[in-house]
Amino acid sequence: MTDKQIAVITGGASGIGEATARRLAADGYAIAIVDMNEARGEEVAASISAGGTPAKVFRCDVANAADVDRVAAEVEKQLGPARALVTSAALIPNTEGIMDMDMDAHERMWQVNYHGTVHTCRAFGRQMIARKQGAIVTLGSINSYLPLPLPAYNPGKAAIQRLTQLLAVELGRHGIRVNSVAPTYVMTPPLRAKVESGHRDLGKIMSVHALDRLPEPGDIANAIAFLCSDQASSITGVLLPVDAGWLSAVSYKTYAGGVPWEQ
Ligand SMILES: NC(=O)c1ccc[n+]([C@@H]2O[C@H](COP(=O)([O-])OP(=O)(O)OC[C@H]3O[C@@H](n4cnc5c(N)ncnc54)[C@H](O)[C@@H]3O)[C@@H](O)[C@H]2O)c1
Repeated sequence: MTDKQIAVITGGASGIGEATARRLAADGYAIAIVDMNEARGEEVAASISAGGTPAKVFRCDVANAADVDRVAAEVEKQLGPARALVTSAALIPNTEGIMDMDMDAHERMWQVNYHGTVHTCRAFGRQMIARKQGAIVTLGSINSYLPLPLPAYNPGKAAIQRLTQLLAVELGRHGIRVNSVAPTYVMTPPLRAKVESGHRDLGKIMSVHALDRLPEPGDIANAIAFLCSDQASSITGVLLPVDAGWLSAVSYKTYAGGVPWEQ
């Protein structure tokens, strides 16, 4: 047990989740990393602990509701009840058509990305309800807004937005806020691997943003930390884009009449 507030980060062993674990540790939370990748989670937890903040890793498959319930009880026993929850665990796919897709992979992606978010919000949300306080941030995406050819991931991220709104209303009466962030492409290990293997075109990515830079994992972590903080005490049910202007630029920059400064 620690006297610090507890932040639980699913997917905290890598990428955006890792950056969020480090940022929330800097904000004074004790950290529970909930991830399938225990070895990498241990490295992150050890490096956070070395800075003086309690951090532990809990191996868990978020797709498995019983596993999530078990881990939630373990986190409460070892560290304390969750004050903040960030649901970053997910699988990131390659482009595919609905007629050709592998249905087992489709099912697994829904189980991890969408149902995993449901399971963790239920298990840790109950700890927050018991104490009438808490903040949850789910991981949406630019996929939450518009169709992209990722038939499980894309509607899954739209569903997470709606789930976030439902939870915001259901948990609001218990003093719990529930929000989502919508990153554009962020150079984390899965995106880097996809660019290197030719499954994502960096030139195309850069051509549909307003800014000439992509967000870093730490930029997403900053937005999440804000939504977890008391500075956001009147904000609930929102989907906050952290997208270098993708939402504004994606239609503008593909306009059939051309872009003024390119003519
Ligand atoms: N990187 C991007 O471009 C981008 C853009 C928008 C949204 N997102 C979202 O941000 C989140 C994090 O993505 P990332 O790029 O940091 O990915 P990442 O692969 O670096 O991190 C994901 C983590 O989730 C863990 N994980 C996967 N399946 C799990 C399971 N069943 N149970 C528990 N843990 C599991 C992995 O072990 C990994 O540590 C995801 O929700 C993703 O959809 C990413």
